[in-house]
Amino acid sequence: MTRFLSAFLRHPIATGAIAPSSAHLAREMVCWVDWNSVNVCAEFGPGTGAFTPAILASLRPGARFLAVELNAQFAATMASRFPHVETLCRSVAEIDAICDERGIQQIDCIICGLPWAAFSAELQHDLMRAVLARLSAGGHFATFAYLQGTLLPAGVRFARLLRDSFGSVERSRTIWRNLPPAFVYRCRKL
Ligand SMILES: C[S@@+](CC[C@H](N)C(=O)[O-])C[C@H]1O[C@@H](n2cnc3c(N)ncnc32)[C@H](O)[C@@H]1O
Repeated sequence: MTRFLSAFLRHPIATGAIAPSSAHLAREMVCWVDWNSVNVCAEFGPGTGAFTPAILASLRPGARFLAVELNAQFAATMASRFPHVETLCRSVAEIDAICDERGIQQIDCIICGLPWAAFSAELQHDLMRAVLARLSAGGHFATFAYLQGTLLPAGVRFARLLRDSFGSVERSRTIWRNLPPAFVYRCRKL
């Protein structure tokens, strides 16, 4: 919690949150995914790993999993909490190169913790292009938004970008047991 707050104070836009997400939100991020169809899963912006245990509990045996975290301190926390997870201290903007270096063609499921509503329109578009280029047809993409952020211009813009980018976009119920309350966008690529 204090790690998060100090990261937020130093890098408010990239961190986008004052506290890690709750286990209730983590469940909502993973419970809708057809995990039998997932051979490769990536977590984007895992922070200190709030969603990682729920992902690890859902992955089928043999599925590949990697986590991409920009913040070096968070990436180090991930590496010590989850030594068996391939955690990369890099930007999601580099996902093409990250996949090429590992011989990964496509990602079937992305559990995304990026703070989209804090990003500029340009960064939202650039990162979404990177996501779509590597997500398999029919692939799952889950990301969360804070309730209050949906009223702000960047939140409205991001909701529109999701609708323009995916074949289907659904909104989960609101998770009130999260600080602040949040919901999940559940998207499938055509
Ligand atoms: C809102 S926090 C969410 C952290 C965690 N998933 C959670 O829910 O508690 C956003 C995370 O995305 C990371 N992040 C921001 N921009 C990124 C980028 N371009 N590539 C990878 N990670 C990024 C931040 O460092 C931070 O850990």
